[in-house]
Amino acid sequence: MATILAIETSCDETAVAIVNDRNILSSIVSSQIETHQPYGGVVPEVASRQHVELLNPAIAQALSSAQLNWSDIDAVAATCTPGLVGALLVGVTAAKTLAIVHQKPFLGVHHLEGHIYASYLSSPDLEPPFVCLLVSGGHTSLILVKACGDYETLGQTRDDAAGEAFDKVARLMNLGYPGGPILDRLATKGNPKAFPLPEGQISLPEGGFHRYDSSFSGLKTAVLRLTQKLQKESPDLPVEDLAASFQETVAKALTKRAIACALDCGLDTIAVGGGVAANSGLRHHLQAAAAKHNLRVLFPPLEFCTDNAAMIACAAAEHFNQGERSPLSLGVLSRMAI
Ligand code: KG4
Ligand code: ZN
Repeated sequence: MATILAIETSCDETAVAIVNDRNILSSIVSSQIETHQPYGGVVPEVASRQHVELLNPAIAQALSSAQLNWSDIDAVAATCTPGLVGALLVGVTAAKTLAIVHQKPFLGVHHLEGHIYASYLSSPDLEPPFVCLLVSGGHTSLILVKACGDYETLGQTRDDAAGEAFDKVARLMNLGYPGGPILDRLATKGNPKAFPLPEGQISLPEGGFHRYDSSFSGLKTAVLRLTQKLQKESPDLPVEDLAASFQETVAKALTKRAIACALDCGLDTIAVGGGVAANSGLRHHLQAAAAKHNLRVLFPPLEFCTDNAAMIACAAAEHFNQGERSPLSLGVLSRMAI
C-alpha cells in the first residue's frame, strides 16, 4: 500500500491530493475558471502565475484535511505531460523540491493515464483489460488498457477534441467558458431532435467509415452556419434546442465508437474519463447502449471526470507499487502520446 501526494497543474486547475492506492485521503482542487472567464479560454501565462500562488496553500490543505504529516507520505508525484508547459513546470518543480526536502521518491505521471485511473477511484475492483473512452478538452481517444503502463490507442479525433467542440460551440453562441457544463445545463431543457446535425465520420479509402476515429470540426461549422441562419430570422437564438441537438450528436457519435471498440476487442467494460465524461447526454446514451450489449460502463463521479490530482496520485501509486521511480532530471512536455 502506497500513500502518494500528487500535484496536477497541467491546465487551469491547481490540484493536490493524497491517495492510498485507490483510496482518496484528500483531494483539493482550486479552480482558476473565474480568472480565465473574461478571456473566453485559458491564458497560459496567467495559468502559470495562478498555479504559483495557489499551490502551496493547496498542499497544506491536502495534508491537513487528510490529517497526515510528511512522514506518512511514501512518494511525491506530479503531472509532467501533456499540458501547458509553464503550468506543468510549476507542479513538477514543486513536486521535485518537496521530494528532495522530505527525502521521498518522485514520480512523473502522464495526464491521460490519470484520467484512465479516475475510474479506479470509484471502482477499486476494476482490473485491465478494458476499453477507456477518454474525452477531455484536448483528447478524444479510445484506449485499450492492457496493464498499468501498457496502453494502445485504437481511435482518436482527427480534428477537434470533444471538449474543445463543446467549448467552441458555446463560444460561437456567446454562452461563455467553459462551454461543456453550460451547454449540458441548457441541453436538459431543449429538444435534441430540434435540429438534425451531421455526425462527422472519417471515410476509409476502401469505402465505409473508420470505426473508432471521430471528427467534430464539421459539426462545429454546421452549428455556426445554423446559428447564423437562425440569427437572421430572429435575434433570440433557441439556445436550449441548439445545445440539446449538438450534445445528442456528440453523445451518439462517441457512444457508437466506444461500443464498437469494446465489442471488437471482446471486452465487457468501458471506463470513461476526462471532463466530457461529466456530460449528462453521453452518460445517458452510453449507458443505454451498453445495457443492450451487456457491457459495463464506468463513469467516475463528476468531480473526478474533470482535472484533479487524486487520479494522478492513483496512477502514481500503481507505478510506485511496481517499483518505478522517475529521475529528478525528468522534464515536462506539452505533448506526448500515452
Ligand atoms: O479533463 P478536463 O478537465 O481537462 C482536460 O484535460 O482537457 O476537461 C475539460 C473539458 C472542457 O472542454 C469542458 O468544456 C469539458 O471538459 N466538460 C464538459 C462537461 N464538463 C466539462 N463537456 C461536456 N459536458 C460537461 N458536463
Ligand atoms: Zn484532463
